[in-house]
Amino acid sequence: MLTPIREVIKIFILTGAGISAESGLGTFRDKDGLWSRFDPMKLATPEAFAHNPDEVHAFYNMRRQNLLSAEPNAAHRALARLESGLAERGGSLFLCTQNIDDLHERAGSQRVFHMHGELLKARCTACGETMPWQEDLSVEAPCPSCRRSGGLRPHVVWFGEMPLEIDGIYDALLEADLFVAIGTSGSVYPAAGFVSEARGHGIRTCEINLEPSDNARQFDDRRYGPASEAVPAWVEQVLS
Ligand code: NAD
Ligand code: APR
Repeated sequence: MLTPIREVIKIFILTGAGISAESGLGTFRDKDGLWSRFDPMKLATPEAFAHNPDEVHAFYNMRRQNLLSAEPNAAHRALARLESGLAERGGSLFLCTQNIDDLHERAGSQRVFHMHGELLKARCTACGETMPWQEDLSVEAPCPSCRRSGGLRPHVVWFGEMPLEIDGIYDALLEADLFVAIGTSGSVYPAAGFVSEARGHGIRTCEINLEPSDNARQFDDRRYGPASEAVPAWVEQVLS
């Protein structure tokens, strides 16, 4: 018997590229997805950046420009409403995203954990400083902090690198009453393993996606449809 949704007060949500698809930002593994047009091993690994920084910068400069002309959609706005609605009743939302866009923040979400980094930030490989960055990045750009050139990279987690804040993310996951995955194919770890971690700790699980993900069978509850429709409908039910 599933806990009535009304008793759920601590929710952990994992979002993926699918929640930003209707804002015009491509996903990775759908038809015409980013990885069907670009080779991630040539653009999203530390080795690629070491061997060809100009090509990697150009790839993320293109994605940064696309992001700056994109807008949050109804799914992002619904999660911002969920965050404030849960807080009003003494509950909490832990919003963990695999996305490197800032659409959750622009929709009004106050606490967002970007486990794969943020496209609108740069990081200096010389001094380690991370800073907001909206312009094109290049090898020549000097670090505003240490002034050295040639060291700035996108503040994005690449294949082969550790995701950010992962210990705090696991702590929050295991304290939740409900784990919800939205718009993710469930094909990249460690995010793809969150649902089995939750199940192993007796936490209810729900998938909201355009179509069944690789992990669909592990979810107690599954809702399918475009995020801009399915997420607001689910949030209204939780808050009603
Ligand atoms: P991983 O094993 O978690 O993921 C590998 C995934 O990369 C595979 O599941 C596959 O879907 C994809 N992949 C690899 N080669 C591909 C190809 N040629 N075409 C299409 N897809 C391909 O990788 P990892 O090294 O453990 O990643 C560490 C962390 O970095 C993970 O959290 C990962 O999600 C993250 N990451 C972030 C970005 C980004 O752009 N933000 C890109 C890659 C990885
Ligand atoms: N509404 C809801 N879900 C959607 C929509 C939509 N409008 N459009 C697509 N989807 C779903 C797809 O069905 C798919 O299951 O979103 C999911 C997108 O999956 P991926 O393209 O694999 O994106 P994601 O799961 O976020 O990738 C995980 O892989 O390359 C790395 O670091 C990168 O963060 C990324 C990680």
